Amino acid sequence: MELKLSQLLIDSALTGNIRSVEMALKKIAPKIKSDDPELYHFINSRLQSNLLRSKDNSKILPVDTDSRLQLVRVENPVIMPSTPILSENIESKLFQVVKERSLIEKLLELGLTPTKTILFEGPPGIGKTMSARWLANKLELPLIVLDLATVISSYLGKTGSNIRAVLDYASSFPCVMLLDEFDAIAKRRDDERELGELKRLVTVLLQTLDDWPESSILIAATNHSELLDPAIWRRFDLQLKFSNPTPQMIEAYIEQQHSDLKKHKKLLCDLFSGKSFSDIERTFNLARKEAFIKDQALINILLGRNENLESVSNTSQQQISKTERNEIVLKLYRKGLSQRKIAEETGLSRPTIKKIITTLQTIESN
Ligand SMILES: Nc1ncnc2c1ncn2[C@@H]1O[C@H](COP(=O)(O)OP(=O)(O)OP(=O)(O)O)[C@@H](O)[C@H]1O
Ligand SMILES: [Mg+2]
Repeated sequence: MELKLSQLLIDSALTGNIRSVEMALKKIAPKIKSDDPELYHFINSRLQSNLLRSKDNSKILPVDTDSRLQLVRVENPVIMPSTPILSENIESKLFQVVKERSLIEKLLELGLTPTKTILFEGPPGIGKTMSARWLANKLELPLIVLDLATVISSYLGKTGSNIRAVLDYASSFPCVMLLDEFDAIAKRRDDERELGELKRLVTVLLQTLDDWPESSILIAATNHSELLDPAIWRRFDLQLKFSNPTPQMIEAYIEQQHSDLKKHKKLLCDLFSGKSFSDIERTFNLARKEAFIKDQALINILLGRNENLESVSNTSQQQISKTERNEIVLKLYRKGLSQRKIAEETGLSRPTIKKIITTLQTIESN
């Protein structure tokens, strides 16, 4: 590749000049065609995809007319460092949405409409926002996220026009539009305190959902689906209920994100049972820092105690005294771990574990 062209490409990319990146790629492609046909085809396919075009989309971002603050946040392209861990049901439905998009023309010919509007419901920190980003990434579409704080303007009657501006913007070019904290704007119309404003808002949303174009996907996410106006709820093509991760999903998460602790995954699954992914992640982050600062094994910090589990499972078990070892076993047992799990985690045999537990319990009860 010519030096000048490479420099142009790098400088344009680093300064965020998409038009210039596009130009550089168009010049580079024919030059490398014979030497590297695979790269040539890749560049061409990227140039043709709407990745660059949509980024270059010169549409003016909607702003609040009083504060002049932007009403949306745009992510383009959406970069995903990791894939969300999802239940089989949700994963297969999302893959179907992606598949439908690749067959969109055929579906339309058959008079079938692809999924355009999706409601994500469920508790916090389990992958609703992440899944919306994943979809945008897979479809190579920009992600437009509603900035709720700006949209809900302090001026009465303004929220409706702000939402309308955002939805008009997002439906005018191919994108994935995410309405996070959807319950805040789509509450039941029988809430008397905010009746007038809410009625107007819900009417805007109903119209939007009915008229949403095939080219874009609208995702609404909420922790409180029970607060949604029932008329809105019914309008979504697809409703996906997210729940806290199952033990299998936590195991998959540990394998994906914390493979250094793979051997303790059963124990960690028990520790994190019933927790959301973001809680689990926070715990790992804090524990990693603490382990580094205290120069201790991460697993010990995660267990939150002075249990020197690494040394127990180590073959050099002489490192800790038998008394210490026994106390660890009893603590794990009290935490609700089965004898089989304790055996797996500590490397001790099940009969030994059983003996330790019975002995210590007998001592304690006397
Ligand atoms: N399914 C998942 N797989 C892997 N990591 C996850 C998953 N869900 C959440 N996380 C981690 O937790 C963080 C927060 O997740 P996310 O923002 O998607 O939650 P949410 O369901 O949208 O929560 P909220 O209702 O509070 O908006 C993510 O950035 C990711 O690091
Ligand atoms: Mg979210």
